[in-house]
Amino acid sequence: MIEHRTYPPDFEELKKGVKRLLGFNTDQYKNTYLGRRFNARLRAYNLDSYHQYWKLLKDNTAEQERLLNDLTINVTEFFRDRSVFHFVHENVLPAIDQQKQKVRIWSAGSSDGKEAYSIAMLFIDLLGEQRAKSKVSIVATDIDNACLQRARVGDYFSRKGISQSDMSKQLSFLKKPEHFFDIAEDHYQIKPTVKNMVSFQYHDLISGPKKRNFDIIFCRNVVIYFSRELQEVLYMDFYNALNSGGFFVMGKTETLVGEARTKFQAYNSRERVFQKP
Ligand SMILES: C[S@@+](CC[C@H](N)C(=O)[O-])C[C@H]1O[C@@H](n2cnc3c(N)ncnc32)[C@H](O)[C@@H]1O
Repeated sequence: MIEHRTYPPDFEELKKGVKRLLGFNTDQYKNTYLGRRFNARLRAYNLDSYHQYWKLLKDNTAEQERLLNDLTINVTEFFRDRSVFHFVHENVLPAIDQQKQKVRIWSAGSSDGKEAYSIAMLFIDLLGEQRAKSKVSIVATDIDNACLQRARVGDYFSRKGISQSDMSKQLSFLKKPEHFFDIAEDHYQIKPTVKNMVSFQYHDLISGPKKRNFDIIFCRNVVIYFSRELQEVLYMDFYNALNSGGFFVMGKTETLVGEARTKFQAYNSRERVFQKP
């Protein structure tokens, strides 16, 4: 996507500073995206320029944490875009179950783990606890350490941003939610059977080591914030990280760009599921 907006020189100063200070690779994110995040912080302090904000940020560790938190938007939910998970449950998992003795899954940009745990639940539902445990391993990665820590703990409170009735609606995908969660009022704790199928790791999609040998990759609602050039690179990274016959599941509002567009075959375009031939 070509970005037409021009930004003042101190915007670049702030971008460079944030990259150096927080290790957040601002070069690879869209300026429109960064601008929105920075402007919100300027407003919070009633500041007029990026330069003023940079001066404040340099020595303020609490603000550094806050900005990093804002930059890594963590919005997620269990079975986000239900039709996608329904399609995966009905079509992708049975196909991969037939093809493979062992199945390796990657949830890239997994936020606080709800995506990865949703996948684990689908497999247990399909294969039963014992088979799912011995057959499937799920690696979930993110650059937000606080999120990864929350994911490992696996305790979720419905009152945090999502009401209890919304939570129940989301989980109505499951015949028996109590099979997967210890539920106490607004507190949902992932059971060990589900937890044990997922390992959480710090991994930066931009600069981290290339991964290999996966049968399904979920990367949903992550690359949407990245520049077009980086999206092209990452889609090929995902292609190369998949075994032949493997599946790539992307976000509902995302579109394949670059070489990967010609390499992947659409398995179901509406649900954004692609296959490596
Ligand atoms: C909006 S959440 C999406 C979560 C989940 N995939 C979903 O669709 O519900 C985006 C996640 O991508 C992560 N992220 C952003 N930049 C990243 C990068 N360079 N490498 C890995 N993860 C990144 C953020 O920390 C955040 O947790």
